[in-house]
Amino acid sequence: MDSLIITGNGPLKGEIPISGAKNSALKLMAACLLTDQPVTLSRMPNLADTRFLSELLSSLGVEVYWPRNDSTCHLNAAELKSTIAPYEQVRKMRASFNVLGPLLARMGHATVSLPGGCAIGARPVDLHLKAFEAMGADILIEQGYVKAAAIHGLKGAEIEFPFPSVGATEHAMLAATLAKGTTVLKNAACEPELADLADLLNMMGSKVSGAGTSTITIEGVEKLNGATHTVMADRIEAGTYAMAVGAVGGDVLLKDAPSEALQAMCDVLAAAGVETIAEPEGLRVKRGEGRLKAVNVDTQPHPGFPTDLQAQFMALMATAEGVSTIRENIFENRFMHAPELSRLGADIIVRGKEAVVTGVAKLKGAPVMATDLRASVSLVIAGLAAEGETVVNRVYHLDRGFERLEEKLGACGARVQRQSE
Ligand code: UD1
Repeated sequence: MDSLIITGNGPLKGEIPISGAKNSALKLMAACLLTDQPVTLSRMPNLADTRFLSELLSSLGVEVYWPRNDSTCHLNAAELKSTIAPYEQVRKMRASFNVLGPLLARMGHATVSLPGGCAIGARPVDLHLKAFEAMGADILIEQGYVKAAAIHGLKGAEIEFPFPSVGATEHAMLAATLAKGTTVLKNAACEPELADLADLLNMMGSKVSGAGTSTITIEGVEKLNGATHTVMADRIEAGTYAMAVGAVGGDVLLKDAPSEALQAMCDVLAAAGVETIAEPEGLRVKRGEGRLKAVNVDTQPHPGFPTDLQAQFMALMATAEGVSTIRENIFENRFMHAPELSRLGADIIVRGKEAVVTGVAKLKGAPVMATDLRASVSLVIAGLAAEGETVVNRVYHLDRGFERLEEKLGACGARVQRQSE
């Protein structure tokens, strides 16, 4: 298993190109199952998760042409040979579950393994399944599999989510494109990735309006065509590098970063003493001398502060002046990075949904263990800010969501080395 060796090396200076958004790319890829014509996605992030989904799609019969290190992926689901996504595949990556809706909508049936829990919590899929039932699907759960059928096709429905779940909103939107009649999704998730997915679906001939707001309307169509689409830039990757600059200081332009989608983070960074400037080419992040100030944060659905930046923000607060309270409202078990950050000298007390971080003057390098994707990168940020050497073990978590991290940070002066075993 690879590890990263990080040596604190002072401020970061330069440019970091932001890749396509993993969380968007995975749903855009699933959309190819809705049509028998080619779908081409550019600015595709080369990540363990996106490569993994392309393998699953191939096993369903999708022709995938995506050379290594190429950022354009060609998908053609002209003929599907299977509508089954087995446990081994869904277990490895939860987003695989998102093939269920498109398969059900196009083929009238699908059998997909339940994803199960993961390191950050139970993560149920009941809202996804309730949405399909509202659209007229018969859902049976048997031996860990969801067996879904809509022999005469899905029907448009009005669905009000009790919580604005990103996954359930995306999944229902995908399926509703081929349903008979109109579907209205209320209390829908407003994350920018929803608007990205709607853009692709509309290019494919769907009639989706309101994506990115809490009410989304989808008029079903009989057939969808192929399309070409550029994946939106990754706001979480951009936010992560912004936190890295905040932690060690410097001046970095995050090229193509979607500044608007990062407003909540920029407000919090400003309060802490990190400057962010929206420029035509991306988001510039600057921090000068002096310690950061402690700021309290609550994770919320978009446009609030994202749960996917909570771990990174905790690393930032570890050396801020004062006491910061970080409340995680989306997932029940997303503080696994706290004890690892403590190994570097951070003072963090976790009480249920809250972590209380008392800033220390300096962190000190130590060996640490990555537990999930965003937790791993918070350890990289803390390692950059620490004195001496930090070894982050189990970086395969990180490879699921960060493209060429060592290279991108290295180009700005950081010392991050990969060690393969
Ligand atoms: C969540 C984040 C998303 C992030 C992703 C990966 C939010 C609102 N969502 O999306 O920004 O990119 O994780 O880290 O911040 N839930 C149910 N039943 C369901 C679906 C969800 O109870 O069927 C609950 C979940 O347990 C969780 C909450 O709703 O507590 C948020 O879930 P959801 O938005 O669906 O999660 P993801 O789509 O994974």
